[in-house]
Amino acid sequence: MDVIVSLSKRRGFIFQSSEIYGGTGSCWDYGPLGVELKNNIKRVWWRDFVHQRDDMVGLDASILMHAMVWKASGHVDHFTDPMVDCRECKHRFRADQVEEIDWTHYCPATKGNKFTIKAGEPCKHCGARRTLCPDCGKGELTAPRHFNLMFKTFMGPVEEDAAVTYLRPETAQGIFVNFDNVLQSTRRKLPFGVAQIGKAFRNEITPGNFIFRTREFEQMEIEFFVNPHERLDGRPADETWHDRWIADCQAWFARYGLSAENVKLHEHSRDELAHYSKRTVDLLYKFPMGWSELMGIANRTDFDLKQHSKFSGKSLTYFDEERKEHLVPFVIEPSAGVDRALLAFLLDAYQEEEVRGEKRVVLRLHPELAPIKIAVLPLLKKRPEIVATCHDLRRRLTRRWLTLYDDTAAIGRLYRRQDEVGTPYCVTVDVKTVGDAEKGETGDGKVTIRERDTMQQIRVPMADLEMVFGRLLDAGTPWSEIATSYPRAEG
Ligand code: GAP
Repeated sequence: MDVIVSLSKRRGFIFQSSEIYGGTGSCWDYGPLGVELKNNIKRVWWRDFVHQRDDMVGLDASILMHAMVWKASGHVDHFTDPMVDCRECKHRFRADQVEEIDWTHYCPATKGNKFTIKAGEPCKHCGARRTLCPDCGKGELTAPRHFNLMFKTFMGPVEEDAAVTYLRPETAQGIFVNFDNVLQSTRRKLPFGVAQIGKAFRNEITPGNFIFRTREFEQMEIEFFVNPHERLDGRPADETWHDRWIADCQAWFARYGLSAENVKLHEHSRDELAHYSKRTVDLLYKFPMGWSELMGIANRTDFDLKQHSKFSGKSLTYFDEERKEHLVPFVIEPSAGVDRALLAFLLDAYQEEEVRGEKRVVLRLHPELAPIKIAVLPLLKKRPEIVATCHDLRRRLTRRWLTLYDDTAAIGRLYRRQDEVGTPYCVTVDVKTVGDAEKGETGDGKVTIRERDTMQQIRVPMADLEMVFGRLLDAGTPWSEIATSYPRAEG
């Protein structure tokens, strides 16, 4: 993780929020490359799950909602973690995590010497186990108390109870409260889904592991509404659709680069299930701190629509023309964190290898996710014709793909820099491209394209560049196929 945190800062993917004031441990800012990577993840997710399916539509609901939404959803009463506080240093811990923290001990058997002891282990001098605050080693801990994870705020200028509302802790509720609006305005038939990407906020007690758990994050959520009375493949339709969404989500992460050995499914046991869920399956990713949740796919039944109907007094039903009955649909909810997905893609893509005796760092990001698609580089920045040709090419290519020009180092360094941020292709303009007027030599009008993963180089006429990159970046033609159509350039 440290390597990714350091690369992220050094190359402008992710910075600590408010760093000049000492930073916050729980919020992060996306830099010039990070924002491109994040936007690319959201763009392909929306394209694949909304635009390319005929059973999905999108929505963008507001972050601040009526306070009753959170009463109805159960968040006011149930969205809590049990907490314990140190009476001495006031440090607050999640009750279920205190035993997992290395603890501070002033050992009576060694004249009160201070030791830091591994989580769960006793002191090897006096045999004592932790009973006091693991942090200061002096204070008693309070009994567990429930702490709501929602950020409370006030709507309007008066800070009174009537104006209380919350920053949404999930985007899902914006979809449920709009169920009837979407149904009436789109005339959809079941099954259909509504997707939303947006910010969510949770006052997490123990944020950490970089962008894995933060207090402000983004979600990509789908609520897929199903007729629970229908049968599909010999089973209740909601169960079949649940399995289909699990498979689709797993395939999506594999398509954009997560290796199969780093992803696995986790079926929630009865004790783990949320109050609204009939069945939940998580996709776990092998993060550096261990297998942890990347996303969840839950069968939320008709819980949310019924709750909102009860609290708002509005009917949130669907009329089944075939059976001539009003019913409350069941909901399958694939819910992914954008930031967690981004972290997993970065971790999976990061590789260090040795090339001609030197370390090469390469981010093997899927080309659709890579922040910069093409870098245009001059072999010699002192030759104005070379530089002018580079700028001309960059202008041409950037109309379709994010293209960057860089002349701040020698070509070998420039390639390494692009490898490190995952740029799939570099285009190099050299003397052969533009010729040498003083020697009466005309250029051949060809440039070198270098591919990131194989480091192979081919010589391509400038006139072909849009066609070649269109095939590579838009049509998904493999590099090996393009590389056989053009002569190799020397590496
Ligand atoms: N609507 C269902 C829901 O919100 P969740 O499991 O609490 O379910 C869904 O959250 C996803 O949102 C998680 O799998 C994770 O990817 C992301 N997520 C949740 N809390 C997060 C946090 N504090 N920081 C970053 N991502 C978070």
